[in-house]
Amino acid sequence: MKTFKLSYILTVFLLISSQLFANDGNPDWGKTGHRTIGEIAANYTSTKANREINKILDGQSLALVSTFGDDIKSDSRYRNFNVMHYVNMPFGVKYEDSEKNPEGDMVTGIEKCKAVILDKNSSKEDKAFYLKLLVHFMGDLHQPMHVGRAEDKGGNDIQVQWFGSGTNLHSVWDSKMIDGFEMTYTELTDNANKISKEQVKFLQKGNIVDWVNETQTFAVKAYESVTVGEKLSYNYSYENFETVRSQLQKGGIRLAKVLNDLFM
Ligand code: ADE
Ligand code: ZN
Ligand code: ZN
Repeated sequence: MKTFKLSYILTVFLLISSQLFANDGNPDWGKTGHRTIGEIAANYTSTKANREINKILDGQSLALVSTFGDDIKSDSRYRNFNVMHYVNMPFGVKYEDSEKNPEGDMVTGIEKCKAVILDKNSSKEDKAFYLKLLVHFMGDLHQPMHVGRAEDKGGNDIQVQWFGSGTNLHSVWDSKMIDGFEMTYTELTDNANKISKEQVKFLQKGNIVDWVNETQTFAVKAYESVTVGEKLSYNYSYENFETVRSQLQKGGIRLAKVLNDLFM
């Protein structure tokens, strides 16, 4: 009886602690968001870039590989990559002026991906690995909560209600609004806002750090959009989903720019 009780307590403890660790590895944008960014990017990649990408990925689509960054989170061999999914800066402080995480962040992660892909001595396996991560991190870069505050882990610690269920602000922006919209990634891609060539060129101006600083402005607005414990539902999506759609579109268009520059 005693051993039964002990093993029961142990099982409950393990279940609870595994949930706690699972929480740390929560996905980003969610699969639909990441795939939309990959699919939109594919509409803006050059012929040359397409050819090189197809060679490295054996013909797998950018949408398919876009979720790889989250898939490897469950593998402890890749723990060093966890910090590359986000960057935390205090509000009003730009990336250039912010205190950097010595373990790295989204910006250093993206630079690492680019460096391996550009290195003539990199193996095809390494190029594929880092290209898949680049597709993923360029997506994360456009999720406002991935450029949030350190104190609340990019909104992960800001509890809110979503249609009556407990969740947090980070998750609302990763996936709750997108899933509630009930469009597939191809539907979201086909229904992205129609924009001119000039607008595409304008969105592709700047560099990774400029885009991180821009995303922070949307993070500030997202933090201002809720109070702790607030009950969010249709109205929240009504007011914020245009920002989500626009960020997905920018993510795709800028991912294409980064790829076109890498494979010139
Ligand atoms: N995911 C886990 N920790 C995070 C943080 N500090 N900021 C954003 N996303 C995160
Ligand atoms: Zn996330
Ligand atoms: Zn991620």
